[in-house]
Amino acid sequence: DKGNYRHFMAKEIHEQAEVVGRTLAHYVDPAALSVQLPFVFPFDPVKLDRITILACGTAYVAGLTAKYWFESFCRIPVEIDVASEFRYREAPMRAGGLTIVVSQSGETADTLASLRYARQNRQCIVGVVNVPTSTMARESDILAPTLAGPEIGVASTKAFTCQLAVLACIAVGLGRAMGTLDRERERSLVGELMALPGLIVEATKREHEIEHLARTLSHARDVLYLGRGTSFPLALEGALKLKELSYIHAEGYAAGELKHGPIALIDEDMPVVVIAPPDAVFEKTVSNLQEVSARGGRIILIGDAGAAEAASVHVEAAVAMPPMAPTFTPIVYAVPVQLLAYHVAVVLGKDADQPRNLAKSVTVE
Ligand code: M6R
Repeated sequence: DKGNYRHFMAKEIHEQAEVVGRTLAHYVDPAALSVQLPFVFPFDPVKLDRITILACGTAYVAGLTAKYWFESFCRIPVEIDVASEFRYREAPMRAGGLTIVVSQSGETADTLASLRYARQNRQCIVGVVNVPTSTMARESDILAPTLAGPEIGVASTKAFTCQLAVLACIAVGLGRAMGTLDRERERSLVGELMALPGLIVEATKREHEIEHLARTLSHARDVLYLGRGTSFPLALEGALKLKELSYIHAEGYAAGELKHGPIALIDEDMPVVVIAPPDAVFEKTVSNLQEVSARGGRIILIGDAGAAEAASVHVEAAVAMPPMAPTFTPIVYAVPVQLLAYHVAVVLGKDADQPRNLAKSVTVE
């Protein structure tokens, strides 16, 4: 049932505050401001020395985002790969390691094959999965459910933000268990997590201006998405969403890579969506913004209310996000990124729920 929405995708974007809240409630003790993982790791966390994350598509983007959190909170190396590469590249894995598979459906063929490869290599497997009856849910040692509810739109939206929420909680919980994250920091991070549903509601209120922006963007042939730090994976996600829904060519890049090639693409016809939340690398992103601006690129800035002024460049459009703490910005900034792709598809008359050539669940490789 689509309710009052034109598409399941719109409904699912608007459900995110609720389902992220529900998912967090499963992993967080709000009174104690602590993460309470609903499972116990079957290994000594202090001895853990590597995490491997495997997934495809948008679930891979969630894993790539979580790498930043795991490295920061747990201080151990994280390897992340798309499952279609991982399963065939004879990756060495030391027995006793932790492998996290991320999947909405729990049936994606390559992710499932990677899970089985990890099992053969005696990993502890945590499945961050949305369908609790799926093969991956069954074959994981530990099921860490996303409580997004059924996702009907082919484009992953609410499953993605719930994956991010679960991975964030696991990273905090594991950091505590490993002794690399102190109680003080846990309290403040859990406070940041608990603020997310309200911030998602605020972000959703930007829909009207995003609709307007979508009309301009619908004429583009190519769109570049840039971000740094945890906004880099979100830039990949923005480009993926735009491609799959509107069939406009888009690329996501780490903002710092601009000079290493893609800057050659920039001219006055090239829209550049810059995701620049107020985090530790904001100033660095600003210098990339200035490089784009100097070459006449059309900047669409997704940042907080002061971002455009702080960057002191001319922007074609700015989407003002609510003020928030820096750690978990992708969970809120995902909303305008999803809405933009959705509305471009609607403007172009494309079927947002069922893009051409795509299946909801890729069960053959
Ligand atoms: O069910 P899964 O999460 O394993 O699916 C992975 C990808 O196929 C999926 O995220 C795909 O990229 C989406 N269409 C993206 O919107």
